[in-house]
Amino acid sequence: MTPSLLLSIRRGPLRSWFSGALLLSCSATLPEGARADDAHKGGAPHGAMPMADQLAMASPWLKPSVGVPPGVSPLFFQSIVPAQLPNTEAVVALGRALYFEPRLSKDGSVACATCHDTSRGFTDQRGTSEGIGDQIGKRNAPTTMNALFFQTQFWDGRAPTLEAQAKLPITNPIEMGQPDGDTAVAAIAENPEYQRAFQAAFARAPNFDDLAVAIATFERTLVFLGAPFDRFAQGDASAISDDAKAGFALFNGKARCTACHQISGSNPIGSDNRFHNIGVSARHQDFEGLVKKGLLALEKSDSREALDELALQTDLSELGRFIVTRNRSEIGAFKTQQLRNVGVTAPYMHDGSLVTLWDVMDHYNKGGEANPFLDGGIEPLDLSERELDQVVAFLFSLTDDRLAAQNRAEEARQRALAAKQRPMRDEALATRKKFLFEDRANHAREGSK
Ligand code: HEC
Ligand code: HEC
Repeated sequence: MTPSLLLSIRRGPLRSWFSGALLLSCSATLPEGARADDAHKGGAPHGAMPMADQLAMASPWLKPSVGVPPGVSPLFFQSIVPAQLPNTEAVVALGRALYFEPRLSKDGSVACATCHDTSRGFTDQRGTSEGIGDQIGKRNAPTTMNALFFQTQFWDGRAPTLEAQAKLPITNPIEMGQPDGDTAVAAIAENPEYQRAFQAAFARAPNFDDLAVAIATFERTLVFLGAPFDRFAQGDASAISDDAKAGFALFNGKARCTACHQISGSNPIGSDNRFHNIGVSARHQDFEGLVKKGLLALEKSDSREALDELALQTDLSELGRFIVTRNRSEIGAFKTQQLRNVGVTAPYMHDGSLVTLWDVMDHYNKGGEANPFLDGGIEPLDLSERELDQVVAFLFSLTDDRLAAQNRAEEARQRALAAKQRPMRDEALATRKKFLFEDRANHAREGSK
């Protein structure tokens, strides 16, 4: 590429600027679907940023291949990345184009990036997600940033790998709605640029398995671990505020967060990869009734696709991990979510029911929500208002520097909202003047009258 062409790419309109960015990192040209002048209407329903703008915003952040991130133990990294990973720039570039490709959905309107929008912390910042035909699901979209570090994917861990995960939204009826993988492939396979990109990546024609591998390989480049907290952990005492430091001490001590969210070089995202009932869904559930319904549904089918539909389209969603394992101790249990970049991924929890990080802290401070399956690690914390603010300040220090501006704006937005409303706050419970099990016993007594 000549220098003058490079210049015109940098200065030119969005489309050539982005195609150029891809060209620079990969010999394959950009498949049609992800182009800024995309003739497709839609491509960004549900308030998502248009695909081309997302790409333009994110491309300086995106890496051309998968590599050990700074601060992460190489041995640990090897252990979480498949040995056979086809880690070439052609595979990553193809995966990137597919991630932003609305044509993979039945009506050409929804891409991965509709719900995992790069301008919204790689999520949709909605309570629960909305797919094709404005259909609303039961679960909150977690971020795809750092998803590579999880041992299982989804809130209930029903997908063992990123590859297995990537296929499910494409064929889920309310997400991207394709009848099957082959139909999804057919929607892009005629396109000569995709044909070339698949050849460059896998040396064969487009197929569903390779498509999932490409998307998953691209996702393994989405490492966002460069936060002020990391500079603090490396010895720069001025990297985070005194409040955030005090919050970190509380996080490890009185607030008991590390019991499940430990953060370290071999656990950079702060998830124990286990499943706990912390009482989020207990607010409005009759678990025993749901379990009966769940077991009946599983008798009909417990295929991966069937589990996906139970989780996203039915009330059984609230059973969480139980639907996957049928283990009664996992009723209402969900995967410990990562804490990286939580500043920019509101609202929170598997159902998106907690709107700010202050709500999250109020939930934990009062000991969760009473239910017979509540994890033993959840109990009233007796944190003062000042201490709650400090833990929140620490949580906002976990956002990668590339998202620093969004993080600041979001902190201000949440602070203003929390000043007006704190629906989860319950001082009597937090300070143990009242106990959750008493509530439960009293309700049972009222019920038997
Ligand atoms: C309609 C919105 C929507 C679309 C489209 C969508 N997702 Fe998701 N995604 C979600 C929701 C909701 C969840 C959580 C579902 C659950 O856990 O049961 C999720 C979960 C995930 C996870 C698991 C992360 C974790 O922390 O466990 C990954 C990875 C992911 N999606 C990647 C993708 C990819 C890749 C695509 C495109 C092939 C895609 N998503 C398309 C909404 C969507
Ligand atoms: C017993 C284990 C456990 C403890 C202790 C715990 N968490 Fe969690 N955390 C979880 C689980 C499980 C989820 C997901 C629950 C759900 O969605 O139903 C979660 C979710 C979260 C989320 C939401 C993340 C998102 O993207 O939606 C935040 C924030 C969070 N925890 C912060 C904390 C903080 C701060 C503490 C300490 C005050 C703490 N957690 C203590 C297990 C735990």
